[in-house]
Amino acid sequence: MLKKAVSLCFAATLVLGSFGPFTDYYANASINNKVNYSNDVIYQIMTDRFVDGNPANNPVGSLFSSDCSNLRKYCGGDWQGIINKLNDGYFTDLGITALWISQPVENVYTVLNDAAGTTSYHGYWGRDFKKTNPFYGTMQEFQTLINTAHQKGIKVIIDFAPNHTSPASEDTPSYMENGKLFDNGTLVGGYTNDTKGLFHHNGGTNFSSIEDGIYRNLYDLADFNHQNPTVDKYMKDAVKLWLDMGIDGIRVDAVKHMPFGWQKTFMETIYSHKPVFTFGEWFLGENEVDQNYYNFANSTGMSLLDFRYGQKLRQVLRNGSDNWYGFNAMIAESEAKYEQTADQVTFLDNHDMDRFHFDGADVKNTDLALAVMLTSRGVPNIYYGTEQYMTGNGDPNNRKKQTSFNKTTKAYQIISKLAALRKNNQALGYGKTKEKWINNDVYVYERTFGKDVVLTAVNKSKTASYNISGLTSTLPAGTYTDQLTALLGGSSISVGSGGAVSAFDLSPGEAAVYSFNGSAAAPSIGQVGPVMGAPGTTVTISGESFGSTAGTVKFGTVNASVVSWSNTEITVKIPAASAGNYQVSVVTSGGAASSTYGPVEILSGKQSSVRFIVNGASTNLGQAIYIVGNVSELGNWDAAKAVGPFYNQVITKYPSWYYDVSVPSGRSVEFKFIKKDAAGNVVWESGSNHVYTTPASGPGTSVSSFQN
Ligand code: NOJ
Ligand code: NOJ
Ligand code: CA
Ligand code: CA
Repeated sequence: MLKKAVSLCFAATLVLGSFGPFTDYYANASINNKVNYSNDVIYQIMTDRFVDGNPANNPVGSLFSSDCSNLRKYCGGDWQGIINKLNDGYFTDLGITALWISQPVENVYTVLNDAAGTTSYHGYWGRDFKKTNPFYGTMQEFQTLINTAHQKGIKVIIDFAPNHTSPASEDTPSYMENGKLFDNGTLVGGYTNDTKGLFHHNGGTNFSSIEDGIYRNLYDLADFNHQNPTVDKYMKDAVKLWLDMGIDGIRVDAVKHMPFGWQKTFMETIYSHKPVFTFGEWFLGENEVDQNYYNFANSTGMSLLDFRYGQKLRQVLRNGSDNWYGFNAMIAESEAKYEQTADQVTFLDNHDMDRFHFDGADVKNTDLALAVMLTSRGVPNIYYGTEQYMTGNGDPNNRKKQTSFNKTTKAYQIISKLAALRKNNQALGYGKTKEKWINNDVYVYERTFGKDVVLTAVNKSKTASYNISGLTSTLPAGTYTDQLTALLGGSSISVGSGGAVSAFDLSPGEAAVYSFNGSAAAPSIGQVGPVMGAPGTTVTISGESFGSTAGTVKFGTVNASVVSWSNTEITVKIPAASAGNYQVSVVTSGGAASSTYGPVEILSGKQSSVRFIVNGASTNLGQAIYIVGNVSELGNWDAAKAVGPFYNQVITKYPSWYYDVSVPSGRSVEFKFIKKDAAGNVVWESGSNHVYTTPASGPGTSVSSFQN
């Protein structure tokens, strides 16, 4: 309650324009923690479709649709428009604390020869990743955007699409811009006559396998060969350029379509340069569960957009094809399968799906979905215009220009209330989810961290009222008012000793949120970021009750050197312990130890993507080839941790197999290939170990013959 009053008075002061006395607030706000978004709410903007703040930078002719009636043209939205909305308080009052904007880089200028004359307004057809898209703004305007956002306590996340340049044709150099890549204005190469081997030339993917999706073109987009040293260095230099501009996060496009090993080296580059929260897009359809998706989130150091969560919530509250039992099962599944559930980015919709609200639907569904998402585990992301109940099925109807900025919609107010609560009650950022009362229509769940508790109750029925009796909670005895201030019909509840909640009615379409703030006596870790890095990488540990004087932080039993220490946030350097997975714990100066958090992976050092090829490896049906070797990245000779399964269809063909692996740079590694089946049966290669010295930097290739 007290904390809340403080933040309201702070907001009022901001409006008056004098935040001088509150600079300490900024110093401690999450804006300075670029690797923890647990207290944040992200707002996703398609830059071209938001606000045109500078008509002078608009494209002309066939690139442009001045009234945005042709949704495949540029519509004029730009960084100045976002700056204007930052300055007029639209985001501050909405309560969001991070903006995800379109890929900022220069895109193709050519218009597709289709009926609509499609352009690259969306930003996904990169041409020069070291320059800006001039229709969004200049580098100076980008810097102003970052600075303005930071002054408002808002982070900036860029979209980044290192999988491809732009549409290209294998044999027609005149098609579009031939997928050409430029390095700050200098041509590096194009798709046809690709003498440098910058791109894959394996045709388009039919999405039949992971391998097919990685090494063939996504649609007709010129697909990068990340094993090419020029491409590898270019992309890593490019991302550093944007990191140096002061960005706070990265959304990586199409992570299912790039080699996982290379992506791990990319993450190591980011984390050793300037660590920022990074989440990838691995699209999952409705009811799609893919162990590869969870493996990606758990092994690359990158979080994911939580498609499991988004699709399930859409089933329950958008199309009615599932109910709260299915939702609760998804919560249990994901909390078990993600190593860091709190770091996955939840959403209701995005630019690749039908908008959550649609013509003829009850806006109540959106309101309830927002209330649930903003009180759920994960980092919530709101697609622009959801707060205005924008509609649109399919691309590009889900990408209309936002024209209404009304602060009085119910959705706007729900976001505002719950975004504030996410800042003030750590149970929302860090707590696990416990189902407390459930039927097809009603879901009551509690999240706790330390002594913080948030209890959320929702009834999605349009007609039925339910009496909620027998509910128990961790809330201390007392009366609790609805944090949504009855926006969705909630009323107060009363909790007796032992947590028994007096029976109450949940009317049709009602949702209520109850909160208790208490600080934990014992040190408690809520989040650690990044969860992967070489020794020396800065890692931030967030939580409660660490104490004001420095104690120790341990990776397993190894002490890490402490860089800074406060009651809620500690920064340390990853210790030079032997590479592998560690549990992190905090011991206060008074000797109180936290429970452990992890795993956090200590890498052997800087990483290179090495393509291991093994020829002549014949297998029985059901067997696949894996690699195992003498470094942690190759499983330390533990067949259960061997890396693979190898591929054998696109780059090499059976019985030749290949896999791109992130291994320490400049190191002699020993390894063998194994044949493994789904049951885990292993056949080791005979003979002596293979030996390969990895490149000092950049990618490499190692070719072996299988030793039968
Ligand atoms: C996924 C993006 O979200 C989508 O909008 C884009 O067209 C493709 N990746 C290709 O970049
Ligand atoms: C490590 C050895 O060096 C290697 O040659 C052997 O194949 C594996 N262990 C499995 O025993
Ligand atoms: Ca403009
Ligand atoms: Ca690819």
